[in-house]
Amino acid sequence: MSPDLSVRAVDARELMDDPHADLRMLERTYLRFAPVNRLVSRPGLLYRRDIRPRGAPGRALRILDIGAGGGDLCRLLASRLRRDGIAAEITALDPDERAIAWARAHDGGAGIRYRPAFTSELVDAGERFDVVVSNHLLHHLSPQELRTLLDDSRRLVDQGGAVVHRDIARGRAAYALFGAATFPFASNLLAGSFIREDGLISIRRSYTVPELREAAPAGWRVRGGFPARLELRWEHGDAAP
Ligand SMILES: C[S@@+](CC[C@H](N)C(=O)[O-])C[C@H]1O[C@@H](n2cnc3c(N)ncnc32)[C@H](O)[C@@H]1O
Repeated sequence: MSPDLSVRAVDARELMDDPHADLRMLERTYLRFAPVNRLVSRPGLLYRRDIRPRGAPGRALRILDIGAGGGDLCRLLASRLRRDGIAAEITALDPDERAIAWARAHDGGAGIRYRPAFTSELVDAGERFDVVVSNHLLHHLSPQELRTLLDDSRRLVDQGGAVVHRDIARGRAAYALFGAATFPFASNLLAGSFIREDGLISIRRSYTVPELREAAPAGWRVRGGFPARLELRWEHGDAAP
């Protein structure tokens, strides 16, 4: 039976957020994020539209991934940038030490910088980036955490840069599609991970486009995309609150 998707399930908690979650299942979840994200998050679009055009000869492009989890987006970006001959410094940030430890151990020569921290630490250190991104982070946050994330990401992006927070959009089609697409793999590929259960909880916790517009401070732009995607953007030149 499909749950009520008319309102955000803000009290539903993802299993991976439990500090006492089974570590083997959590690590298997990080491992499986990569193929799932490639299918649902369209990282190639982010790369072509927001990252590659900012590459410039003679200086490294500074990229920050907030809530990087297992680091698969960072590794994918590192490999595309290397293929295109664009020098880059990529930072994977996550307050969850378990995620950072796993991502660091699976760097595979990508040369990513791993930081077990919140954005406030980078703001305090005066760090700046050309592109600040996140994937599947927004729906995890309380209203105050969302506000902090957005304020900090604006402070962390340098002149000419862009902040792009991407997430799932809540809806019946997204819930039904994710449920149907992951069902055949529940007892094999996804077994022993939180992917299927947390994915369905994530969709219930996620925003719709109008809800995210309402939640975002002035100056941020919200777009919907395919398949069941949301994007919250801020670029220099957009009105500051
Ligand atoms: C669903 S995972 C997404 C991981 C990865 N970005 C991906 O797309 O696979 C959400 C991540 O956000 C992290 N997170 C939760 N609250 C955060 C916050 N306030 N700031 C930064 N990261 C946070 C969690 O530790 C978790 O690793």
